[in-house]
Amino acid sequence: MEVIVASDSDVMASRAADIVQAFLASTHSPVLGLATGASVQPLYRELVRRHREEVLSFAATRAFLLDEYVGLDPDHPQLYRNVVRTELTGRVDLRPARLFSPDVCSAELEEECARYDRMISRARIGLQILGIGRNGHIAFNEPDSTFDSRTRIVRLTATTRADNARFFDTLDEVPRRAVTQGLGTIMEAGHLMVMASGAAKAAPVLKALRGPVTESVPASILRTHPRVTLVLDSQAADAVVNCDGALMPSPTRQQP
Ligand code: GLP
Repeated sequence: MEVIVASDSDVMASRAADIVQAFLASTHSPVLGLATGASVQPLYRELVRRHREEVLSFAATRAFLLDEYVGLDPDHPQLYRNVVRTELTGRVDLRPARLFSPDVCSAELEEECARYDRMISRARIGLQILGIGRNGHIAFNEPDSTFDSRTRIVRLTATTRADNARFFDTLDEVPRRAVTQGLGTIMEAGHLMVMASGAAKAAPVLKALRGPVTESVPASILRTHPRVTLVLDSQAADAVVNCDGALMPSPTRQQP
């Protein structure tokens, strides 16, 4: 796994944008997986800047949402489809019809999850952008999600609802359910780029990188993917780097 430790969010955004830009240039019809959250916002701002000032184009790109709340009005600003449009896709040349997300208003939501999952598998996401939750979740795969899980309806934990309450007026407004790409679905993407910033992410980053690979820490599955880039700020990396800023090696088993 490649680990990039950036001194601040601007450097993080720039390193991550380099990865996205190189990916878009590497193929005729790029398929991008898009996450939401505070850790990816600086990246989206940087991509918009490069689009405006340096002619970075998303015209050939298709984008798939990683997860989505269930129960918000279609025009609610925190519906992830709206968040991603506001922060990125609506500000670059990605055509609205090329942004895909599960129809969370569907009366047959389970079937809709299966349909969305099939679409993702067929499209083959080349670069999937991800964040990591304080409880080690990726997308909305909360602890004890199975490693082979597919896109499905999930119930959000109290920790996740409390963490995401900062984006709403009150905790009560935070939906209790969501649709998430499954861990098995996410693992099919060609390259996973995980972004984490802030001191609250130091513990889950440590567990994901150095703890056991276990379903109780969903992000630990990343260690089994052939191509993962972790982009961290120095606070999120605090528990896995030494005082020179170098990544500490995994502890080796003691010889008897
Ligand atoms: C939400 C999203 C996740 C994201 C997480 C981390 O829960 N559904 O996909 O990984 O937030 O976000 P942040 O970067 O804001 O901590």
